[in-house]
Amino acid sequence: MAHIIVVGNEKGGAGKSTVSMHVATALARMGHKVSGLDLDLRQRTFGRYVENRRSFLAKAGLELASPELCELPEVEAGTLRAGENIYDHRLSAAVASLEPDSDFILIDCPGSHTRLSQVAHSLADTLITPLNDSFIDFDLLAHTDASGDKITGPSVYSEMVWNARQLRAQAGLSPIDWVVVRNRMGAQRMVNKEKMERAIHNLSKRIGFRIAPGFNERVIFRELFPRGLTLLDLKDIGVKQLNISNVAARQELRDLIKSLNLPGVTANF
Ligand SMILES: Nc1ncnc2c1ncn2[C@@H]1O[C@H](COP(=O)(O)OP(=O)(O)OP(=O)(O)O)[C@@H](O)[C@H]1O
Ligand SMILES: [Mg+2]
Repeated sequence: MAHIIVVGNEKGGAGKSTVSMHVATALARMGHKVSGLDLDLRQRTFGRYVENRRSFLAKAGLELASPELCELPEVEAGTLRAGENIYDHRLSAAVASLEPDSDFILIDCPGSHTRLSQVAHSLADTLITPLNDSFIDFDLLAHTDASGDKITGPSVYSEMVWNARQLRAQAGLSPIDWVVVRNRMGAQRMVNKEKMERAIHNLSKRIGFRIAPGFNERVIFRELFPRGLTLLDLKDIGVKQLNISNVAARQELRDLIKSLNLPGVTANF
């Protein structure tokens, strides 16, 4: 059975598609069979990222391990069972067709609440939630008091994950391993950064997620998309000397992969 990794956060621009591409490609490079599904049917950032990779590699005459992108199958409304939701059907059909031949299925969710995203969360063996270092983004996970130090209650996104967990429990499935990854952190020690650290730590114990080492704000993440590349590919396309920031970013990615604790993934790569 394939292990399903869902990358989700209802907040737009948290880094879901960037993380999806990096995790999917890292696993493919380690020799795993990785299938990708992009549930952002409008923006298709993850899908476009994988397509850009294919075009770039073909033009450059390079062969690098890559995730295999799959589209949701089209379904005739007439073939649905009574009361069955068309998106539920399309997603389960896609996952069922990928499961036998994939080690991992990576599902990138849109930055909004959609039926597809909700169903995907209930399929997650591992849920990765990138989170920007801002209390505006944190507000979708939990509400805090004015100081930011006291959590006053859960918010829409964590309630959605809670529902997904309930659904899995009722279906006798293993619990979701929920991993929050801080993204776009500033390099300096700042009051906001430390406050966020405390708030995330408190919340992790309350609503049950793990905190993985995250990514600092780095220009390289914005530059790789047109060629469909990730931090791990740079040496293979002939970049001789990585600058310090890119070496550090690559290490952040390796640390993230390790801390995901995925089945069959060796800790040292
Ligand atoms: N660590 C980082 N450093 C610098 N820029 C980053 C970093 N992570 C992501 N970005 C940039 O932030 C923007 C949003 O990233 P991305 O598209 O991956 O987010 P998303 O959560 O998928 O967004 P959406 O909700 O719209 O799907 C992009 O311009 C991306 O290049
Ligand atoms: Mg996206």
